[in-house]
Order: sequence, then structure tokens, then C-alpha cells
Amino acid sequence: MTLLAVHRLGVGGVSPDAPVLHADDEGFLRGRAVFETIRVYGGSPFRLDAHLARLGASAARVGLPEPDVAGFAAAATEAIEAGGQADATLRLLWTSGREGSGAPTGLVLVSSLPVGLDDLRARGLRLATVQWFPGTLAGAKSTSYAENMAAVDEAMRRGCDDALLVGPDGTVLEAPTSNVWFREDDRLLTPSLALPLLAGVTRAAVLELAPEAGYEVEEGTFELERVLDADEVFLTSSVREVMPAASIDGQPVELGPAAEALQRGLRGLAGYPGQG
Ligand SMILES: Cc1ncc(COP(=O)(O)O)c(C=O)c1O
Repeated sequence: MTLLAVHRLGVGGVSPDAPVLHADDEGFLRGRAVFETIRVYGGSPFRLDAHLARLGASAARVGLPEPDVAGFAAAATEAIEAGGQADATLRLLWTSGREGSGAPTGLVLVSSLPVGLDDLRARGLRLATVQWFPGTLAGAKSTSYAENMAAVDEAMRRGCDDALLVGPDGTVLEAPTSNVWFREDDRLLTPSLALPLLAGVTRAAVLELAPEAGYEVEEGTFELERVLDADEVFLTSSVREVMPAASIDGQPVELGPAAEALQRGLRGLAGYPGQG
């Protein structure tokens, strides 16, 4: 991804090459910051209101002041325009600001989309299970993602593309930056939000789309064995959208019709009918 545009709340657009944070910003010093990653389709951020609501909920969990929602919405519009790409990645960051200042920092970043997503969708992800001990902030989208990235690194060391996070009791939770789904015949199953995982905006969209695609949905607590026996497994997230899995720990998984139909449906919701 290439950074195309940056906007600092209260300052305005700044060059992507210019420094925007002080060295004692607590977001940097201690990871006391929250963020959102949003897919931009045809110049419009997908479900911006849901992302802003989640930013507010994450901020409350981490003990940050309430984000400036109107400021973020206006800055997002300006930054997307400045980025100059109709299809892009939009990130919102809200940090607690300089140490002791009590003045939060808001940043909006627009980047190009990662390359190769459609190829990856056609090939399917190789997933590696990684044991996961959720922290007390699980479910908040804080920038303290070093553990999530370490899980991806471990999956990559094992020749895979991404991690499937499994709790110490064998319960499947999510992936480091996605929610997880599996299919048994015409039922789609996904870990419940009562578990320590993030309430994905894409997950919510897929819950809406599933009945029209002909699937019933069950949210619950599922053991890894059940996922390994599934007819189809896929991840959902804002940037990678609906991304099928082709294997888990080297055991092949069929790419299936549900992921394909839901990816099409998601593009339809985003105003991109026929694509996906
Ligand atoms: C831990 C985690 N789970 C799930 C998701 C998917 O959320 P969304 O669909 O809102 O992108 C993300 C997104 O980054 C995430 O970080």
C-alpha cells in the first residue's frame, strides 16, 4: 500500500512525507490509540457511520476522549479527494495525544489498496492455526496490534498467508485482522460476539446478505475440529472483503459458493454490482 494523502484534524491536509506526530504522542509511546480501516469504493467509504461508531466504542474502552466524529467525516471526504484514487483504503487514527497534554490527535490516512487481492481470492488463503490468549481489550480496535502482527508472522514462517486464532480451550475466535466463517451445507457459522473478538463491519454486512444468498446463520462457540470438517471456510474484513481459505495447517479446504456469492453481494451493497 502506498500512502496517498494525510489529514490531521485541526490542521488540514499535510504532505504524506511530512511528520505529523510528536515523539511523545501516547499513541506512539504506549499504543494508547484506536483506529479504523475502511474500504473506499468509487470515492465513497463503505459504512463510514458504523466505523465511526466503532471508533467511539474502542476509544471508550481504551479510556480515550470521544472522537471528533464530524471532524473525521469531513476530513475523510477531503483526504479521499486528495488521494485521487476512487478505490482506496481509508484509515482513521485517534490517539490520546502528547504525554500530559489531554489534547487528542486525529489522523486520516488514504492509501492505495494492497495489490493482488483478487488473485488471492481466486487462489484462497493458506491459514495456520495460532494459539491466542485474548487480552482484556479484545474487541476494541486499539493500535496495540503487535501481537496480531506476530501471529501473522508466525503463520508466514509456517509457509501460510494468515493466522487462524484459536483460544487456549480450542475455541476458534477470529484472524488477526479479519472475522472467520465456515459453512456446513446451507448454514453459515461464525464465532459469536459474546467471545473476545472484534465486531467486524464486514461481518455485519455478511449477516445481512446471508439470507438472500440462501444461507441460514448461526453465531456461537465452535471448536477448531468443526471448522476443519467444514465444507468451506472464509474470512471477512474491510480491505480483503470476503476471502476464502484454501487450507488450514496444510489440510485442503474447498473454495465454495458461499464466499463467492457473499463477495458479489458485498460489492452490490457497496454500489459495485456485478463485480467481485
Ligand atoms: C481483529 C480483527 N477482527 C476482525 C476484523 C474485521 O473487521 P472489519 O470487517 O470491520 O474490517 C478486523 C479488521 O481489521 C480486525 O482487526
